[in-house]
Amino acid sequence: MAAGGNWKEMFHACEKGDLELVRYHLRMGVDPNYQHPEYMTGALLESIRKGHLEIAELLLQNDANPSIVKDYGTETPMSIAIEKENKAAIFLLNSYLPTTLRQHQYGSQKKILITGGNRGIGKATAQKLLLEGQKVVITARNKIEGKTVIQELKNETGNPNIFLAQGDLSNIRSCQILIQKIKEAHSDINVLINNAGIWMTERAVNEDDLEKSFMVNHMAPYLLCKGLFPILKQNQPARIVNINAGLYVKGKLDIEKTPYGLDFSSIRTYANSKLCNVMFTIDFAKEIEGSGVTINAVHPGIINTGLGDSPNFLSKIVKFTKRFWKSPKYGADAPSWLAISEELDHVNGKFYFEKSVMDYIDVVKDEKLRAALRVKTETILKNIT
Ligand SMILES: NC(=O)c1ccc[n+]([C@@H]2O[C@H](COP(=O)([O-])OP(=O)(O)OC[C@H]3O[C@@H](n4cnc5c(N)ncnc54)[C@H](OP(=O)(O)O)[C@@H]3O)[C@@H](O)[C@H]2O)c1
Repeated sequence: MAAGGNWKEMFHACEKGDLELVRYHLRMGVDPNYQHPEYMTGALLESIRKGHLEIAELLLQNDANPSIVKDYGTETPMSIAIEKENKAAIFLLNSYLPTTLRQHQYGSQKKILITGGNRGIGKATAQKLLLEGQKVVITARNKIEGKTVIQELKNETGNPNIFLAQGDLSNIRSCQILIQKIKEAHSDINVLINNAGIWMTERAVNEDDLEKSFMVNHMAPYLLCKGLFPILKQNQPARIVNINAGLYVKGKLDIEKTPYGLDFSSIRTYANSKLCNVMFTIDFAKEIEGSGVTINAVHPGIINTGLGDSPNFLSKIVKFTKRFWKSPKYGADAPSWLAISEELDHVNGKFYFEKSVMDYIDVVKDEKLRAALRVKTETILKNIT
C-alpha cells in the first residue's frame, strides 16, 4: 500500500472496488470531492457507475457530496444510478440527499428478515428483494453455509445490504435465542418473512416433545411473530408474510395429538402444521389490526426445492417429478410482492394463492378450534419456558 494519500490511486480503487484502499486514502486526507481536470469525474460518480456501493457509502460517510456534477457534463451520482437501474444505489443516495432532490417514486427501502434464506424459496426471495434495492437479513442454521450464501448474493445482485443471523428453529429455546439475536443486531427490520419450513416423512419429535413439523411450521412463526412484533410496530409501516401452502386445506387438527405427532402421516402432518399456521395468521391479524403491522399468508406455487427430500422410496419418486415443477425464482415472486408492494399497504389477514386472494376453508373459520389451538400453543410455551 502506498504511503500518503493520493487522489489518483483512490480514484482507481473506487473503479476497481478496493474498499480498504479507499478507506486508507480517505484516512490519509484525500478529499472525496476532488475532481482532477485530467479525469473530469469524481470518486463517488465512478463508484456508483461501477456498482461498488460499499465504497459509495464510505465516501458519503466521509462527506462526499451526493449531488456532485461531473465536470463539463450533467451527470450526477443519481442520474447514473437511474440509468443503471440500480435501486440499491438510488436508495443509498436518497438517504444522503435533501428531500427535494430525492427520487420518491422508488418508494422506501425496507429491511426484510427471511427465515431459512440459505436455499430454496427463501434464498430466491432474498435475491429478488436485493435486486429491488432492499436490505435483507437471512437466517441460516449453518454459519459457514450462511456466509457463503451472503457472499454469493452480494456478487450476484451487486447489493451489499445482506446480513446473516445464524439460528435454528427446531426447538423453543433455540427460537428464543434467535429472536434475541435479531432484536439486538437488527432492531430496524420492518418486514418478517416466515419462510423456513419442513416436510417430515417420518415421525420425529424434538427435545420439547413436539413433532418436528409442528415446531418449525407453526410454533416457530408463532414465536417469531410475537417476539418481533414490538420492533416491527416501532418501525411501522411493517409487515409479516407467512409462507404457507395451498395444501393446508387437507389439514386436520387434533388438538391433543397433532402437536406431538400422535396422528402422524407422511402427507397429512405437513398439511396439519400449515393449517395451524393459517389459523394463527387469522388470529394474529385480528390481534394486531390497526397497529401499523399487517400479516398475510401465501402459497408460493409448486416449486422444485429440497422440501421433503429424504432417502425413502416415496421421496425419491417425488424428487424425480420435481424436475417438472417451477423454479425457486418463480416461488420468490409472490412472497416478495407481499413483502414490499405498495398496493398491499393495508391488507391484513388474507391468504394469497400466489398473487390471488383465496377464501379460507370452513375449518379455519371455526373460532372454537382456533381458540383451542391458541390455548394449546400458550400452554406448551408456559410448560417449557
Ligand atoms: N416447495 C414448494 O413447492 C412449496 C409449496 C408450498 C409452500 N412451501 C413452503 O415454502 C417454504 C420454503 O420451503 P422450500 O420449498 O424453499 O424448502 P427447502 O428448499 O427445503 O428450504 C427450507 C428452508 O427452511 C430451513 N429450515 C428447515 N428447518 C429449519 C430449522 N429447524 N431451523 C431453521 N431453518 C430451518 C432450511 O434450512 P437448512 O438448509 O438448514 O435445512 C431451508 O433454508 C416452506 O415454509 C414450505 O413449506 C413450499
